[in-house]
Amino acid sequence: MPSSRATSASAGGKIILLGEHSVVYGHPALAGAIDKTVTACSTPIEGDSSLSVPAWDIEVSTRDEGAPAQALRALIEATGAQPTRLDVTADLPCAAGLGSSAALCLAVARCLAPGASDAEHRDIAGAGEAQFHHRPSGIDVALSQQGGIASYTVDGGLVPLDVPGLPLVVGLSGVCRSTATQVARVAARVADDGGLTSGRIKDMGGIVTAGIDALSSGDLDALGVCMSQCHRALRDIGVSIATLDAMVATAMEAGALGAKLTGAGGGGAIIALAPGREQQVCAALEEQDFQAFVTTLGANS
Ligand code: MEV
Repeated sequence: MPSSRATSASAGGKIILLGEHSVVYGHPALAGAIDKTVTACSTPIEGDSSLSVPAWDIEVSTRDEGAPAQALRALIEATGAQPTRLDVTADLPCAAGLGSSAALCLAVARCLAPGASDAEHRDIAGAGEAQFHHRPSGIDVALSQQGGIASYTVDGGLVPLDVPGLPLVVGLSGVCRSTATQVARVAARVADDGGLTSGRIKDMGGIVTAGIDALSSGDLDALGVCMSQCHRALRDIGVSIATLDAMVATAMEAGALGAKLTGAGGGGAIIALAPGREQQVCAALEEQDFQAFVTTLGANS
């Protein structure tokens, strides 16, 4: 007979400042955690486990098909949990490139295995995240877990940067997309286009290294240039869309030092670095009917 005791746990989202996609190919990325979160509450039940995230229109059980149900099965299996109902609240937008699936999986891992170590939580969350993503680099789960601002490589993991929180404007395109589809699309181009995409991915590695130096030395003008260069590279590898390009142009016209898509692309969000002009950039995006907000990278460290 399952106990009726409920447990709850939270995890936060992230923003990739530079290096999405190229990070999957072994290059560094620069990213930080944000203070928008997901909270999972688990109540033991009889029968099939279920997952409900009303803010994201997700309502599945372990019998269902699709990524959220597969992730639920993977998380239950990885924790060895008894049948449970997971009720999840979130102020983190979903399918927007802000690490929502990693935050969900980590919150559930913490909730279902409260006594596990950080490394175990990372592995459990990674098993769930793999159902949402094709070949995840692990950056989303790592940042959600550790917070702060950091560089990241697949081989070396997170290396925290001792820099102040960085205010950023986030603009939501309202176009939902799948990270798995975008990562698979880039992989197909890498295999097929005679080195063009691989070359741009390598360029991104250099842009990220320059961006890490710029942020570490407090040179926000140079960081903004790196962000805009990174957006052009992401466009060249096929993961931007006209809406994101237009949002980036709007942010730049409103005074940003740099702007780019963030996350897997194909929709989702843009970010803009606009010290002292964040409200003007938000207003310019909102004037074009996009939701926008200011957040601080590294806010939850
Ligand atoms: C994930 O937020 C961004 C990608 O780089 C995929 C990954 O790193 O797993 C596109």
